[in-house]
Amino acid sequence: MAMYVLALDQGTTSSRAILVDHTGAIAGTAQHEFTQIFPEGKAGWVEHDPFEILTSQLTAAVEVLGRAGVRPRDVASLGITNQRETTIVWDRATGKPVYNAIVWQDRRTASMCEQLRNEGVEEDVRRRTGLRLDPYFSGTKVSWILDNVAGAREKAERGELAFGTVDSWLVWNLTSGKKHITDRTNASRTLLYNIVEDKWDDEMLRLLRVPRSMMPEVVWSSEKLGPVSTTLGLEGTEIAGIAGDQQSALFGQMCTKPGDAKNTYGTGCFLLQHIGTEFRESQNRLLTTLACSTNRRPEYALEGSVFIGGAVVQWLRDGLGIIASSSEVEQLAQSVPDSGGVLFVPAFTGLGAPHWDPYASGTIIGIGRGTTKGHIARAALESIALQTTDLMRAMNADTGVPLRELRVDGGATANDTLMQFQADLLGVPVHRPACLETTALGAAFLAGLAVGFWNSTDEIQRVQGEGTLFTPQRDYDALYARWKEAVERAKGWNA
Ligand code: G3P
Repeated sequence: MAMYVLALDQGTTSSRAILVDHTGAIAGTAQHEFTQIFPEGKAGWVEHDPFEILTSQLTAAVEVLGRAGVRPRDVASLGITNQRETTIVWDRATGKPVYNAIVWQDRRTASMCEQLRNEGVEEDVRRRTGLRLDPYFSGTKVSWILDNVAGAREKAERGELAFGTVDSWLVWNLTSGKKHITDRTNASRTLLYNIVEDKWDDEMLRLLRVPRSMMPEVVWSSEKLGPVSTTLGLEGTEIAGIAGDQQSALFGQMCTKPGDAKNTYGTGCFLLQHIGTEFRESQNRLLTTLACSTNRRPEYALEGSVFIGGAVVQWLRDGLGIIASSSEVEQLAQSVPDSGGVLFVPAFTGLGAPHWDPYASGTIIGIGRGTTKGHIARAALESIALQTTDLMRAMNADTGVPLRELRVDGGATANDTLMQFQADLLGVPVHRPACLETTALGAAFLAGLAVGFWNSTDEIQRVQGEGTLFTPQRDYDALYARWKEAVERAKGWNA
């Protein structure tokens, strides 16, 4: 009798492997950071080495299994969740990528998006894909690779190249090239998938000049997809769950009914609200996207995506060097009573929802002679909650039904000061679950449900623990007004 489900969580800055037991408890984790590539002299470019993604992920999997002494027969199934939109194009014959992975944060296709917008096609794009013309999504990145890698377009037209988001790339390699698939939640982030008609959109493929033959087969997030065939100590284990990390977290929080919402504080911040089985277009510059479905019927979510959330702390560590490790930020921020009038708009890779400005620049404003690194650290942390507030306001305007509570997860939610500040800013309770591994749990639940490890979502609801509730205690209306001004000043700087 298998005792575990294994979730692979391939994120923007690290690859993680998490073993989940039948009670929903975490039985082991392993994690490997990998290289972020910022090509010299190319502002706004961000790449990953696809093989480093793969090896860091496989190493984490081998480690977690080894440490727990788990044999393949102890693992009921494998679930994959991943950084979304990041684009990989590889040669079907050799399995070699023709270019590095272009990361979701990468802005190199901003002018291509602008040109398309000037052609007046954006409204149509939104009606088909739920997305906007922004370099964030995969479509223009694929197009860029085909236009800029010698011989790539000809090869693609001959059917020799495959496109995939990171889930596709991992499954292709785990199945030794037998499966070229992606799930609906990942497909819905490509700008090439029609989320109303539930199929690759020929019009979008034509508009972005991407040959249909490159596209993976689209599968449900929770279904038996085939066995692992690589030497991992997992040969024969069924791959049975795939979801983009934000939709996985939505499912991991058991936000499966209209109105349920969560915000994940990872590299970025992603606020998603389940809206049911009907497509609805946002009127407030949010996205509509596919949520995980376990009953083979498309389900939708509204999404607000902020590009730099926890990554601002990484910048304090690696860029500015005012902390040696990320965990030091809370103490440094608490060395001052407030941010001393400093506002920090971390638009390092432009601004996502609800502003959508690829040319916005990181901005720190309100610096005086008394400003210390404590103020900068505090303003950086506050920016995470302030951006989330922008998202929630847009979402409330969209649905007309203000959220009554926000469920949260992700690394930065361990920070109590930040969570209290978040509840104060939003004016609604913030609920942090007992287990913060919600993204991985989502993938584990999807994979476990597909093979009968769990029988229903009701059974999963019962294995969830209590958590912590942060209730609003004071208001920060004046600060929020100043924040909005600071954001306006950050806009357009790099145009
Ligand atoms: O859309 C990008 C998102 O999937 C990245 O998530 O957790 O790596 O910040 P994360």
